[in-house]
Amino acid sequence: MQELKIIYLDEIDSTNREVRRLGDAGAVEGTVVIADCQTGGKGRLGRTWFSPAGTGIWMSLLLRPELPPEKVSGITLMAATSVCRAIRSATGLNTQIKWPNDLVIDGKKVCGILTESAILDGELKFAVLGIGVNVNQTEFPGDLPHAWSLAMTAERELNREGLIECCLNCLKEDYERYVQSGDLRQLRQEYEAHLVNLDQPVRVLSPAGEWTGVAKGINDSGDLIVLNDQGESVAVNSGEVSVRGVYGYI
Ligand code: BTN
Repeated sequence: MQELKIIYLDEIDSTNREVRRLGDAGAVEGTVVIADCQTGGKGRLGRTWFSPAGTGIWMSLLLRPELPPEKVSGITLMAATSVCRAIRSATGLNTQIKWPNDLVIDGKKVCGILTESAILDGELKFAVLGIGVNVNQTEFPGDLPHAWSLAMTAERELNREGLIECCLNCLKEDYERYVQSGDLRQLRQEYEAHLVNLDQPVRVLSPAGEWTGVAKGINDSGDLIVLNDQGESVAVNSGEVSVRGVYGYI
């Protein structure tokens, strides 16, 4: 990746949508859009992402890796590792990863990551890596029971600019490692060290039905390894399923 080209905006519908537009128009890898406020922030599974002004980090990166489309999901886990490290180092807060790519503090979600692909004739044209960090919110709408901000744990306002810089440095370094090997082998140990699900019972919600087991870590592709009740090790793919704790979100 060349140097990052950062575009700051006061307001946009969604930084992911804006980076997709820029990608379609031929923008270079490393283009980053950061907005103070999103009017139509996108979450996973068609949800919206609460993105008020002056509070969080809403940013998206344009990536053009020479990798097959199925490798894009690993970029999401890579980013979870990078942003987890950045938050820990910039704020000292005990941030953890909920597989595959939510960041949590004390079991509440402080960051979400949404990676989207632009594919043409079966080939990856580019990927949009979108990251939303709840930094300085002091409250959330009632329909977001799991949402939390870094400031709510730190009990002080945090510096968004410093955290953005730290996140981008970590992301750039880890992305280069990911593209070099084409998998998560260089990041897996760090990912697992912060994995909140590790050795915990999980409910696997798959299209074929729901089952329970114990999470044992990830493989180099980012699948969650779950030991099922029959004692078999099953690799669960992040594109197909989500996991919950047996009693709730974690
Ligand atoms: C999730 O549902 O957990 C993923 C949320 C991703 C939100 C970020 S905010 C910046 C970027 N732009 C978007 O519209 N979404 C992502």
